[in-house]
Amino acid sequence: MTKNKKLLQWVDEIAKMTQPDKIHWCDGSEEENNMLIKGYVDTGVFTPILKRPNSYWVVSDPKDVARVEDRTFICSEKEIDAGPTNHWMAPKEMKKILTGLYTGCMKGRTMYVIPFSMGPLGSNISHIGIEITDSPYVVINMRIMTRMGQKVLDVLGDGEFVPCLHSVGYPLADGKKDVAWPCNDEKYICHFPEERSIWSYGSGYGGNALLGKKCFALRIASVLARDGGWLAEHMLILGITPPNGEKKYIAAAFPSACGKTNLAMLTPSIPGWKVETVGDDIAWMKFGQDGRLYAINPEAGFFGVAPGTSMKTNANAMLSCESNSIFTNVAFTDDGDVWWEGMTDEKPKHLIDWNKKDWTPESGRPSSHPNSRFTAPARQCPVIDPKWEDPKGVPISAFLFGGRRATFTPLINEAYDWNHGVYMGSACASETTAAAAGAVGTLRHDPFAMLPFCGYHMGDYFGHWIQIGKMSTADKLPKIFFVNWFRKNDKGKFIWPGYGDNIRALKWVIERVNGTGKFVETPIGRLPAEGALDIEGLDISPEDLKKLFSIEKESGLAEVAEMREYYKKFGDRLPKELGVELDKIEARLKK
Ligand code: GTP
Ligand code: SPV
Ligand code: MN
Repeated sequence: MTKNKKLLQWVDEIAKMTQPDKIHWCDGSEEENNMLIKGYVDTGVFTPILKRPNSYWVVSDPKDVARVEDRTFICSEKEIDAGPTNHWMAPKEMKKILTGLYTGCMKGRTMYVIPFSMGPLGSNISHIGIEITDSPYVVINMRIMTRMGQKVLDVLGDGEFVPCLHSVGYPLADGKKDVAWPCNDEKYICHFPEERSIWSYGSGYGGNALLGKKCFALRIASVLARDGGWLAEHMLILGITPPNGEKKYIAAAFPSACGKTNLAMLTPSIPGWKVETVGDDIAWMKFGQDGRLYAINPEAGFFGVAPGTSMKTNANAMLSCESNSIFTNVAFTDDGDVWWEGMTDEKPKHLIDWNKKDWTPESGRPSSHPNSRFTAPARQCPVIDPKWEDPKGVPISAFLFGGRRATFTPLINEAYDWNHGVYMGSACASETTAAAAGAVGTLRHDPFAMLPFCGYHMGDYFGHWIQIGKMSTADKLPKIFFVNWFRKNDKGKFIWPGYGDNIRALKWVIERVNGTGKFVETPIGRLPAEGALDIEGLDISPEDLKKLFSIEKESGLAEVAEMREYYKKFGDRLPKELGVELDKIEARLKK
């Protein structure tokens, strides 16, 4: 329990508005978890997965399967502070709409109060949030994804927390019967950056509902980070140890469903190298006294994309979800396991698909939703880094930016200096994926992989990154690289094998960090010199390899022109340093 006045008052106020039947303070215990799971098993919402101890299969409403970016709002006092890349509404106006929707919205339900810590309990990089929800699914998943329960209230004491309000928006008034996956066609995912609070309504899925993740750890935390001189980023964190070499840590930002989980736990295809996982989605970084950036993973679990995950592509993810895991929107096998596209070479002869319909390979439709996911405890990852819960964090030696680009962007490219690296981050563009509702495969700007996650004006965010570069010195700041695993050949096939072979690019990164990697200077950055990328044992034709690193002057100039146009969006909030970088790239291309 707690004596935190602000918390008690807030819970009281929300209960008056939402009118639940019961209030349940989550202690995070196993008994509590079992009780919630039993409720779902008894009503047929969860199906136990015989092959995976303490694991369950669940499917959502087919209309509630991904983040809803169109319905995501940054409600800053001033519209300009949300910037051109966010949806905005005045806080007063939004609160009025939400109060209308929230009034009585928990009728017939239990209201759960979830105290959670983003980051190891008690770390000075960590922050505490309290999520109020009417969804036991959210409680069960938050228990995997965060440190949750009474222990958090003990650390909180009288301290500050971020209030995170969530409802599926499906009241059970006047004896109305519940459905397997309650949600509402009207959805609002709202952030109040000045007040530092979150109100989410109408969805039970992923980033819309597990509010510690994107809403808090990125949108609200990016605001805290701006004000506090640190970084809250959509980045994986990995440790990499060369044969007989010194271990280094790398953080990498790729847009949703563009390979963070896979890179974070990759099994190296070249002998002697070791990769260990600190985090697979979010990094919070602060400067240490030594002037280096130290990163923590604020999460405690993985909410990973299922399709494409296999023992061949990502064995460590497969092994992480062998027990104590939740599987949402995948398919169920006849022998009591889960399955999804890409898990095995041979497709099962029969499945129950994510719509709970019979499925056979002849059905002509995928058995699992493309954004189906597993929720698994990070501690179960066989290559979890020994320092993954170190409250000090791990020192970062390199940043990688990337995305899905079928053309132009080479496999790997090193920035000349910090500001050039910030340019690279700002220039990230990627083909859209199923992680968000809407069209898949259209190229869009996704600066720093933060387009859907930046809680303030993107121009100011670029400025914050420039500022971070001034807070330390070049020898201590991470080196910055741009990578692209997704370049395609004329036949539309990926040129680069990816996955475990991405270690070859990481190897060059480490060699560059150590100052030994050979490079050539090009207009867009430093590329590996001929022979500097380890391709031993790799089945790739010389033409394809050349293609991975080709930079055509015309496409380069077209990119510069396009970026110049894009930057106009940010008006006078665009840091002038980025214009300078564009001029430099253009001059180099024209030389
Ligand atoms: P979020 O959880 O949405 O933030 O996604 P993520 O960035 O962690 O992406 P994830 O690692 O789950 O990969 C998404 C999809 O990309 C999966 O289907 C992977 O199989 C595929 N993928 C990951 N790495 C590679 C790669 O190196 N090459 C290719 N071709 N595909 C990859
Ligand atoms: C993403 O979309 O980047 C995710 C999944 O990591 S969600 O938690 O739904 O945001
Ligand atoms: Mn993500």
